Amino acid sequence: MDLGTYLHDKKIIIENTLKEICASFISTPGVLRDAMEYTLFSNGKRVRPVLAIAACEAKGKSSDDILPCACALEMIHTYSLIHDDLPCVDNDDLRRGKPTCHKVFGEALAIMAGDGLLTEAFRIITDTRYTERLSPKIIKQVIFEIASAAGAEGMVGGQVMDILYDGKEGSKNILQYIHMHKTATLIRASVRIGAIAGAAKAKELKNFTKYGECIGLAFQIMDDILDTEGDEEIVGKRLKKDANKQTYIKHYGILASKYKLEQLVNEAIQSVDFLGEDARILKAIAQYIGSRVS
Ligand code: IPE
Ligand code: IPE
Ligand code: MG
Ligand code: MG
Ligand code: MG
Repeated sequence: MDLGTYLHDKKIIIENTLKEICASFISTPGVLRDAMEYTLFSNGKRVRPVLAIAACEAKGKSSDDILPCACALEMIHTYSLIHDDLPCVDNDDLRRGKPTCHKVFGEALAIMAGDGLLTEAFRIITDTRYTERLSPKIIKQVIFEIASAAGAEGMVGGQVMDILYDGKEGSKNILQYIHMHKTATLIRASVRIGAIAGAAKAKELKNFTKYGECIGLAFQIMDDILDTEGDEEIVGKRLKKDANKQTYIKHYGILASKYKLEQLVNEAIQSVDFLGEDARILKAIAQYIGSRVS
């Protein structure tokens, strides 16, 4: 199966499960549910849940094992986008090809929609109706992985440094901290939870982690490149907005950024060589991350 078909098929099962999850928001105020669903069901690439599934499948397990946790990742990622777009953060009015959540529902509801998605994500992982296929030990590990990647030590920490260094000189070290934390840690955790659910051994997990870290950083470098050279129509968000931010383009220039991106993709591909033929999809995803246009 080629990667295009794989991504298409997985997107469908992820979105169907997300719909089931949203159907469980029975007593949620209608407007809050609308605000949560508005960004959740706009045109996201679903990269993080796909990675969790692909890592799990690479270890010979079914995608059903990790699917609810994969959806929880997408809920957390979507919350991060809603909050990232707020006027007090990046002040963006376009996301996933549509007006941002706060533009449609107002700031208060956008903040609450993010809070709701973040918190419900952990409810899903711990609700045995969804995760009955996973042992309590694995569920505990998954929660630890996701919470550490998304919290103050991970994505939120990265987002804060991104804000603090907006308009400042910064340095390559600061840039590295920001990109690793705001973006790469959650992507790395996506790969890791799939591998953990797939019962990867310690040495294998180390290689999956390397893969996740490389494509995670590559993902944000490409995000910086797209901000400079992308097509707004295709990317679905406002571009050329990062001039004062800590970006790879600012600290390395466009050519060196592209070279670094290519190197990271190659490193990621090598990291999963140990899986043999079962690494095919993970390798194709790494290549896709290095060449994506949206
Ligand atoms: C955008 O993430 C935010 C970053 C971490 C760069 P994606 O590029 O995965 O956005 P969606 O989910 O496809 O909209
Ligand atoms: C955001 O980075 C990373 C998140 C944790 C949301 P950006 O601010 O560069 O993401 P975009 O370009 O708005 O998607
Ligand atoms: Mg931002
Ligand atoms: Mg932003
Ligand atoms: Mg960006």
